[in-house]
Amino acid sequence: MSKTALITGITGQDGAYLSEFLIKKGYTVHGIKRRASLFNTDRIDHLYQDPHLDNRNLILHYGDMTDSMNLTRIISEIQPDEIYNLAAQSHVKVSFDTPEYTANVDGLGTLRILEAVRLLGLTQKTRIYQASTSELYGLVQEVPQRETTPFYPRSPYAVAKMYAYWITVNYREAYNMFACNGILFNHESPLRGETFVTRKVTRALSRIALGIQKEVYMGNLSSRRDWGHAKDYIKAMYLILQQDAPDDYVIATGVTTTIRDFIAKAFAEIGVKLDFTGKGADETGVIAAVDAAIFSEKVGESYLAAFKQRIGEKVVKVDPQYFRPTEVELLIGDASKSRSRLGWEPKYDLDALIADMMASDIKTMKKEAYLKDGGYRILNYFE
Ligand code: NAP
Ligand code: GDD
Repeated sequence: MSKTALITGITGQDGAYLSEFLIKKGYTVHGIKRRASLFNTDRIDHLYQDPHLDNRNLILHYGDMTDSMNLTRIISEIQPDEIYNLAAQSHVKVSFDTPEYTANVDGLGTLRILEAVRLLGLTQKTRIYQASTSELYGLVQEVPQRETTPFYPRSPYAVAKMYAYWITVNYREAYNMFACNGILFNHESPLRGETFVTRKVTRALSRIALGIQKEVYMGNLSSRRDWGHAKDYIKAMYLILQQDAPDDYVIATGVTTTIRDFIAKAFAEIGVKLDFTGKGADETGVIAAVDAAIFSEKVGESYLAAFKQRIGEKVVKVDPQYFRPTEVELLIGDASKSRSRLGWEPKYDLDALIADMMASDIKTMKKEAYLKDGGYRILNYFE
């Protein structure tokens, strides 16, 4: 018998990779998507199946994490073996602007899922994965952070996720449910939302390289993150629900890098040397040199002459509007428990992640440039 999974947040980065992964494993995957005035299923369109077909393995339901009755009805109809609760207002900076909504979706939303499973009498059938986060460590109390490190959340997002973390533990202990937290450190990919820092950088640098963007404005360049690839991290979610007993796990690479170094590495990936000068809000990133061979291979020879003219230009600047009222300065995870108990091992290191994201964004931005200028760059697009 094939297993049935329900994924909340199926239209997001992790939801897209996880649904593809579970379908390949033979699952029937149900997902909850929000009603929106524009199509919002780009990331899973390649998995879409006509609703008129029999035996579909991807089925979408309209829903929202703020609507208990809707969630309860969907869970009742599906009777899932596994629920992956990935839906969230997941942007930390935005949570300072929408704290109540973030608490409702990210905190109470988790309670709604757990309580629906309990009320429907599914506590012994349905296993639940909760998308917990390294943001819980916030003002870090220990370096590196592991499962036993005390939490110190630093944003409305992290505080909401702290409620979700503990209500998951509480339902596990109170009702003997198979409910687990994956405490995932930052994970990125070509599917990453465009306003998270890595994707903002890989998109902007691709556009700068192609000559369709002048500069990019960033926030705090000195914070450090432990970045992995989402493709590796969704495998950990699955493994957490396949264990004999429910538990909580840190998923991380154990390597931490500043935003500044991420930007420099992303430019280096396409043969560009970037030097940073100045401090705080006056810091800038200046194009110092370009390796013609690497740039031609990764971006395209026809863009090289124009790009060389830009040596000496300030292309990375700081705008304090992107600073956060309270910042998480350092994250670095210790995933030894996951490695030994789950057998989880990431395949991508940071350089491989950056290479994947830059290659994807250069391709996408070439297409955008082509569409914008009515086709005169068609040769560049295909080179
Ligand atoms: P994401 O790309 O922002 O996706 C979030 C998903 O939640 C989207 O499908 C979104 O739908 C959905 N959603 C938002 N509000 C909703 C609501 N009110 N009702 C129903 N669905 C709603 O996030 P992600 O990077 O895939 O992350 C997945 C989960 O892991 C999130 O809970 C996040 O907080 C957590 N997490 C992420 C990371 C990371 O580094 N990526 C690390 C630790 C934990 P729309 O597409 O309609 O917006
Ligand atoms: N978004 C953004 N935009 N961040 C910037 C910028 C910018 O222009 N400039 C600097 N940063 C810094 C932020 O201040 C933060 O220190 C760091 O880059 C990472 O920011 P994000 O990529 O927005 O991610 P996050 O770490 O705040 O949150 C992500 O990871 C969490 C796991 O630790 C999100 O995916 C959360 O949902 C997730 O829980």
